[in-house]
Amino acid sequence: MTDAPTLSLNGDWKFCWSPVAYGLDDAPADPGFDDSGWDTIPVPSHWVLPAISPKAAEGAYGRPIYTNIRYPFPIDVPHVPDENPTGDYRRSFEMPEWTSKRVLLRFDGVESVYRVWLNGIEIGVGKGSRLVQEFDITDVVRSGENVIFVRVHQWSSMSYLEDQDQWWLPGIFRDVTILSRPPGSVDDLWLRTVYAPDGTGAIDPEIIADEQAFPIEIEIPDLDVRQRFESPNDVAPFEVCPVEPWSAEVPRLYDTHVSSTGEKLLLRLGFRRIEIAGDILHVNGRQVIFRGVNRHEINPVKGRAFDEEYARADLIMMKRAGVNAIRTSHYPPHPLILDLADELGFWVIDECDYETHGFEVCGWQDNPSDDPRWKETCLDRITRTVERDKNHPSVIIWSLGNEAGTGRNLALMADWVHNRDPERPVHYEGDHSCAYTDVYSRMYPNYLETEAIGSDSGFIFYLTSPEDAERVRSKPFLMCEYAHAMGNGAGGMQIYDELTERYSRLHGGFIWEWRDHGLLKRTPDGREFYAYGGDFGEVLHDGNFVMDGMILPDGTPTPSLAEFSRVNQPIIFDLDGSRLTIRNRYHTLSTDHLRFVAIKEVEGYSVAEVVVEVPTISAGHHVALALPDDLVVAGSGETWLTVRAELAEGTAWADRGHEVALGQFDLTAPESVPQLPTWPAAPTLAPTEAVITLGATQFDARTGRLLQLHGLEVDGPRLELWRAPTDNDRSSFRGSFELGTPEETHGEGAPGPSSEQRWRERGLDRLVPRVDQIHYDHDQLHTQVRVGTAGSNLFVDMTYHWWLTDGLALLVDVAPSPGWDCTWPRVGVRVDLPPELRYASWFGTGPNESYPDTRQAARVGRFAADVDHLNVAYSRPQETGHRADLRSLVISDDSAARLRITTWPNQQRHRPGFTLTRYTPQQLDQARHPYQLPASDHVYLFIDDAVHGIGSRACGVDVLPKHALWPSRRQFTLVFRGS
Ligand code: GAL
Repeated sequence: MTDAPTLSLNGDWKFCWSPVAYGLDDAPADPGFDDSGWDTIPVPSHWVLPAISPKAAEGAYGRPIYTNIRYPFPIDVPHVPDENPTGDYRRSFEMPEWTSKRVLLRFDGVESVYRVWLNGIEIGVGKGSRLVQEFDITDVVRSGENVIFVRVHQWSSMSYLEDQDQWWLPGIFRDVTILSRPPGSVDDLWLRTVYAPDGTGAIDPEIIADEQAFPIEIEIPDLDVRQRFESPNDVAPFEVCPVEPWSAEVPRLYDTHVSSTGEKLLLRLGFRRIEIAGDILHVNGRQVIFRGVNRHEINPVKGRAFDEEYARADLIMMKRAGVNAIRTSHYPPHPLILDLADELGFWVIDECDYETHGFEVCGWQDNPSDDPRWKETCLDRITRTVERDKNHPSVIIWSLGNEAGTGRNLALMADWVHNRDPERPVHYEGDHSCAYTDVYSRMYPNYLETEAIGSDSGFIFYLTSPEDAERVRSKPFLMCEYAHAMGNGAGGMQIYDELTERYSRLHGGFIWEWRDHGLLKRTPDGREFYAYGGDFGEVLHDGNFVMDGMILPDGTPTPSLAEFSRVNQPIIFDLDGSRLTIRNRYHTLSTDHLRFVAIKEVEGYSVAEVVVEVPTISAGHHVALALPDDLVVAGSGETWLTVRAELAEGTAWADRGHEVALGQFDLTAPESVPQLPTWPAAPTLAPTEAVITLGATQFDARTGRLLQLHGLEVDGPRLELWRAPTDNDRSSFRGSFELGTPEETHGEGAPGPSSEQRWRERGLDRLVPRVDQIHYDHDQLHTQVRVGTAGSNLFVDMTYHWWLTDGLALLVDVAPSPGWDCTWPRVGVRVDLPPELRYASWFGTGPNESYPDTRQAARVGRFAADVDHLNVAYSRPQETGHRADLRSLVISDDSAARLRITTWPNQQRHRPGFTLTRYTPQQLDQARHPYQLPASDHVYLFIDDAVHGIGSRACGVDVLPKHALWPSRRQFTLVFRGS
């Protein structure tokens, strides 16, 4: 920050759009040009986004395009198509009376190439969409009124280097500023900080300024430091001792004033020390574990245009969720993001704006990364990345870019960084053998491979020699992307954490990714929805592959965020008898900022709550302490002990009491586990009437299904094996564990169709029942139904055995015929309820949905939610809402409880789970967007004895065999009661 004057040119500009770049003359550059017929556009913004202006909403300025890997134009390097949308921007501004040595015009981000004229004179060409560019306008700018004209082309040779998996969004989308550089100002400044092992700090300044700027003084009031350099030759490192270090957990910043003769600058310095010792990455002498996310700049209304409040809220949400690191995928973010990262505390991998992924489609032929003609451009990009962001303590690693193959230019970029900034390691995932990078990085490694990397044996992909294997194993390893959070998922996050705990070379990673990239759009009849690829009529697109965040486009966290938090929690609890072990996994913090609470619950109700006095546990250590006996003694009924760690005081990102870790322990005495009821022998009478009555319940005598249940009109139960496929179910990108076990396939699974395809081919989405037998007597009903699918001789024989006890009990027996050769998405029954039964309260797991491989965050307790909050509104509708291990459920309408359901555990203490939803899986399956779902006329209750895992196959690995649901004989038991 400087006190030298600046003038923002953000605001309304005149705007004229052309679908092509040819045939445009430079007339608008003329200050006298009449632009009164032009539209108005806000700067910063993207001209294709509907919210920009009514004309943009009509599609008058082209449309957003989403592609993942492929270029949306022919690969005809360095050319681009004639149809090259072009936006002309024009405005005038009043130049203040400044005393300047030089005047600069700065663009923080323009996609993708632009020419600039000031007062009719061409100033220059700007390139590098997410890189800052400054033009010297000293000789052209004049006092009084000035006219600036900027012509932006959507496509350029630079588009070949900016092929990140995201929307193509042209326009001036970051700030435009005029900067005065007064006489005696500083041209550039880098205050490299040093944090020595003995706790002393030092500053190694690099000051670029002419003689006239001296003397220059650096003042750090909190450290009582005042250092004065009389001339450029005086500039030298100096000690400041002692200092508190900066870390992502204790982001101590020191306000630092730098005064030259011409300006006063304010920096916020952080002292920290980055070192690689063997295969361990240290900051301040301790290993860093990345519990990170990939963060794109995306806002559903503004695209990549920055909104400080929105960005701050995002980063605060990250802190609250326990995210400790950000990879700025895949370009330098708006500069304020790094200020926020310094201030709130995140380890940052700052990535260069460089990706050439589309060349992979043609075998990387002509890839700029290995073509000397692109050398200068590549160096220019990394230079501009590092030079802009070098003063940020949060940036601890530089990344050369993403998915750009490999080649000489990348190696040169790495060399350049090594020379310029020897302290910060260089990252680039595409350097598979670590030929020029300092950390080994991979995206979506499977579990076995991750283990092979962490340990010293086992198969690692992409390596061609034992030397390469040795080299990569000699470096710290991180996953720059893992756990693809597309739609419902990712499953199996905790396995990566377990591996990271086990192998010191593993340094955690960065979830792909933080937020869905949906763009807010309206249907022709005005209904809002979040658009993804194809929704703007793109010729080439990659559908909803851009909707892969832990939070929805509108900022609603999906259950994967809770899962992330639990898996990555900084405190781990363990209980052995009455001995509670508390392990501190923080990098820097002791447990002093936490308050520990233990809660004993019997049948889901709290019976005791105590604050546990815990001595200081420093980072990386643990203590074991004895809990009072009465806290760990089982009560009469299901008994759980929950231990929470919460903030003892408020912080910049959460209030006091915010939960940072939780552990739960089952104390239930064996005798408290309900015993399975014995059911009576099957009745033998054949129905004679159309309706069978058992107590307050009526059944259809032909189908055996419910008609009336405690005064409610209902239908069911019927077998359901289908779930609306998740994005992971739909993908065959990686191998299938149904077709090849991890052990047989280097952890990848065998190439093969998606689970969805296998399930659909076997007709799981279209079951056909045939009632085989119905028998009853006065308090029992026994129905046998054979369920098959058209064209197949495979069946599931269902037996529903109802009897009156204390309520109406139902035993469901599911017997698949031999020959089933695929997993099932679910196995359970559906009961259709009246639509007003919207509210659920339950004793079971919650508060979020959970599946076999996404259940770390699910805890046992009593919860309540309405049907809309029981299900996640994924932008592409899909399976949602299963809550495992249900004990009891009460379903209510607006005024009262109407239905109560209790489950019984089986011999293995397993219980079914439930889903309450407005839509059937078949309806969800049909809809591409929520607005396409039909008007709902029921609430559907599913009681599933088991569900298939979620996996991460949209980009990562399939559902592990232990989390897969294979057909087998099953029985589960429920009891229905009225209000
Ligand atoms: C990676 C890539 C990301 C994103 C992700 C899948 O290959 O680096 O940009 O495409 O896969 O969503």
